Amino acid sequence: MFDQTFKRKAHLSLSRLLPRLEAYFKQQIEAKPGDWQIFLARLDSNFNNLFSLYSTLYASQYDFFYHLEGLLCSLASMWFQRPDELKGLDQLREKDPLWFQSNQMLGGVCYVDLFAGDLAGIMDQIPYFKELELTYLHLMPLYKTLEGNNDGGYAISSYREVNPRLGTIEQLISLATKLRENGISLVLDFVFNHTSDQHEWALKANSGDLDYQEYYRMYPDRRMPDAFEKHLREIFPDEHPGAFTYKKEVRKWVWTTFHSYQWDLNYANPAVFNCMIEEMLFLANAGVEVLRLDAIAFIWKQIGTSCENLPEAHMLVKAFNAAKRIAAPALIFKSEAIVHPDEVTKYIDPDECQLSYNPLLMALLWESLATRKTGLLKQALTERYAINPRCSWVNYIRSHDDIGWTFSDQDASRLGINGYDHRQFLNDFYTGNFKGSFARGLPFQSNPKTGDMRISGTTASLAGLEKALKEETSSEVELAVRRILLVHGIIFTLSGIPLVYLGDEIGNLNDYSYQKDPIKSADSRWVHRLKMDQQKLERRKKTGTIEYRIFENLLKLIKIRKENAILSSGFLQVMDLENEHVLGLVRSNGTVKIILLANFTEKVQTIPENVLKIYVSDNSLYNLSTGHKFHLKKIDLDPFEFAIFITA
Ligand code: GLC
Ligand code: GLC
Repeated sequence: MFDQTFKRKAHLSLSRLLPRLEAYFKQQIEAKPGDWQIFLARLDSNFNNLFSLYSTLYASQYDFFYHLEGLLCSLASMWFQRPDELKGLDQLREKDPLWFQSNQMLGGVCYVDLFAGDLAGIMDQIPYFKELELTYLHLMPLYKTLEGNNDGGYAISSYREVNPRLGTIEQLISLATKLRENGISLVLDFVFNHTSDQHEWALKANSGDLDYQEYYRMYPDRRMPDAFEKHLREIFPDEHPGAFTYKKEVRKWVWTTFHSYQWDLNYANPAVFNCMIEEMLFLANAGVEVLRLDAIAFIWKQIGTSCENLPEAHMLVKAFNAAKRIAAPALIFKSEAIVHPDEVTKYIDPDECQLSYNPLLMALLWESLATRKTGLLKQALTERYAINPRCSWVNYIRSHDDIGWTFSDQDASRLGINGYDHRQFLNDFYTGNFKGSFARGLPFQSNPKTGDMRISGTTASLAGLEKALKEETSSEVELAVRRILLVHGIIFTLSGIPLVYLGDEIGNLNDYSYQKDPIKSADSRWVHRLKMDQQKLERRKKTGTIEYRIFENLLKLIKIRKENAILSSGFLQVMDLENEHVLGLVRSNGTVKIILLANFTEKVQTIPENVLKIYVSDNSLYNLSTGHKFHLKKIDLDPFEFAIFITA
């Protein structure tokens, strides 16, 4: 991959720098010679790659070599600080790099305060996480942040401190250890596109320190901002137009893609990259096993472009990846790119992000529920589901964010669907404005200039449970519960890590109380970020309750997943059922086949025997959900039924 000239340069650079490193870390090397050897071996295998990326990004800077040396020092220093237990984990993961592809993997995500009050509360909930059989727990941003409005914690004032309301860094470290002892990997956000305006670097920049002003993108007048904005998308148009905020203290415009208190970091400055490497490794050394790379698409800016998904953004992530392979190889990355599907997949690479959210599947599950048609979903599963075999999707139904309809317009037009119109329909449908809609969602960031809008709401409210409970009869309640189980059934039986937005497992409904809170009222995403109601949670144990219905059935699905390795590793085939309302999938590994059938309508759908025969040569099938074995014949699917059959 690298030519001889390049290899010589890389080798020469490293051999010039190593004696300096050895001098700086003399004491540590003498104390732990074995650890140093491991470090050197990993440096040796990853240096060419790191050097190539780093020099492509930064070699034109007059002080390139100074920063390169600084980077290697950071790596060595963070490695020496890495606890022995985690060094052990590094070795385990290097032996089993695809650990996250196991069918035992199951994720949960929650806010610390909303779910359990604080970190001590989360510690107490470990038995609950085990009841759900979670192996992956994503705690939403828990770092030191701004008082008041802080974008749900995504405005970070220190990557090394926990928000004092939630606990301390020591508690976080013990929680990570305790979770690991219980077979659960801790997942945290790495909000690396921006810091809050109260981060030490931002405060220094705002007080006029030029070195720190170069940590961000600051401009003395509107010339550059205007030029950039010609090509930028507005992310939070409700809050401020464009992407810049004027800071009167320094009389400069600062780049703020999201809120005006979230300042975009300037990765064109190698000092920023080096600092963020240390912050990342600090989190890895605290015991975090997966970092969610927040707002990954935005980290590099280039005039004349949309400043999203630029090639340099990929190089940066690859450089972060090479760095963690040297100093904390157990760590893996999850990409949060909620963008066009062509762009989403570009981040998915063993050398970049090993995991990625699957926003397309998420959006199309909702799309299929609204339309009762599975065309777009089938197309996406056929054409866009396959990714690098050493990586995995993280499949989800809901997250703390809004739902954006990120399907490809070209894909849609091949099915005769106009993307723009279809998004308008989906927005109408999920805000409950479309006649007959079962959904109770809210608009998010509706932009009159572009007609763009996204959707907020909990899974249960979007799936019809809220409307059914408040306005309708028990049969509509039943349909809503089935919709919830149906979409979960799909993510639990595909390869990838299924991720549950905690609260969905008991059918949490929208909570409108945020509208009375001045800090939250402008952001409808709070409607689906609610406090866990412990009494409601207890009802999961009481037969006859809705909570029980949803919870128990999800547990059954989880059990099926965990008992059938084929569900995480088998080959995926989308069936042609000659019925647009039913999604049919085959999972096979050569010997066993699992057939998944999902009816997206409120009517019974029949799959004729001759159609099934194309996919199943065996004469009998065993229904994993009901335990019923039968000779191959037509299958009648109940309204919104999700059925799982195995060839017996
Ligand atoms: C990500 C987060 C979102 C946040 C934004 C800015 O998209 O998921 O909640 O508002 O980044 O950090
Ligand atoms: C993300 C996405 C956008 C999402 C937002 C958070 O970066 O690109 O679709 O809505 O941040 O809300």
